[in-house]
Amino acid sequence: MKQVETVVQLRQAVSCFAGETALVPTMGNLHDGHLALVRHARKLSRHVVVSIFINPMQFDRKQDLQAYPRTLERDLALLRNEGVDLVFTPPEKVIYPKPMVVHTRVEVPGISDIFCGQSRPGHFVGVSTVVCKLFNMVRPRIAVFGKKDFQQLLIVKRMVEDLAIPVELVGVDTVRENDGLAMSSRNNYLDARQRQIAPALYRALRNTVDALERGARDFPALEQAAAGKMASAGLKPDYFSIRRASDLGEPKQDERELVILGAAFVGMARLIDNLEVHL
Ligand code: PAF
Repeated sequence: MKQVETVVQLRQAVSCFAGETALVPTMGNLHDGHLALVRHARKLSRHVVVSIFINPMQFDRKQDLQAYPRTLERDLALLRNEGVDLVFTPPEKVIYPKPMVVHTRVEVPGISDIFCGQSRPGHFVGVSTVVCKLFNMVRPRIAVFGKKDFQQLLIVKRMVEDLAIPVELVGVDTVRENDGLAMSSRNNYLDARQRQIAPALYRALRNTVDALERGARDFPALEQAAAGKMASAGLKPDYFSIRRASDLGEPKQDERELVILGAAFVGMARLIDNLEVHL
């Protein structure tokens, strides 16, 4: 496995892959959820490139950026074990050679401003900008993202369509702990008590899926009931919403492809999760 830090080294390395490249963009601190993306990428492409870059542009709070776990040596060992061909670990200056305030930004309006975009202003501009740059640098045929960040995946899809970026996007199902908690680097922030409470988000999503499958269609009532259950379990709900899966718009009563999106605070950590519903 090769590790490169500059765009020149990266381009040289991927030029040997003859266009058969799948990219898995990450911010490191890898867990089984990331490794599932890497394994999926390996099935789809001869060569797999993983990027590890903690993107300052997508953090709305400096504290959050500073506290983000940095575990490069462990991450590299895990990726070597998965047979990854190339790891791109650019320093900040390689991704953002200019000061952030004058750097070109990529914005996908509308969908970037709701849910996580509303709670974390500027977050998705940071995501779409860095992902666009990574696509231009690596030029992958395929890029693999986790469906845990469902809104992020839709935003990247829109960006790829709107800017005609020649990459095929693939979403991979969320990997969960035994009690349903979605795997996330942010789970590291949970103490023992918070870790016990955290699966209440998944339970609320699961119960709402069950209710929809049984025929319930009063979406606001279902959302309120779920938020109430999360609060009584000790979570502080941020949002809980039943939406059209294709674009996160308000669903009609007869909509068949839905997604339920939820976010909640527990201590310092903000958990997000979602479940798709095919009726
Ligand atoms: O999902 C993530 O880890 C990040 O948002 C991504 C896609 C690597 C961009 O920094």
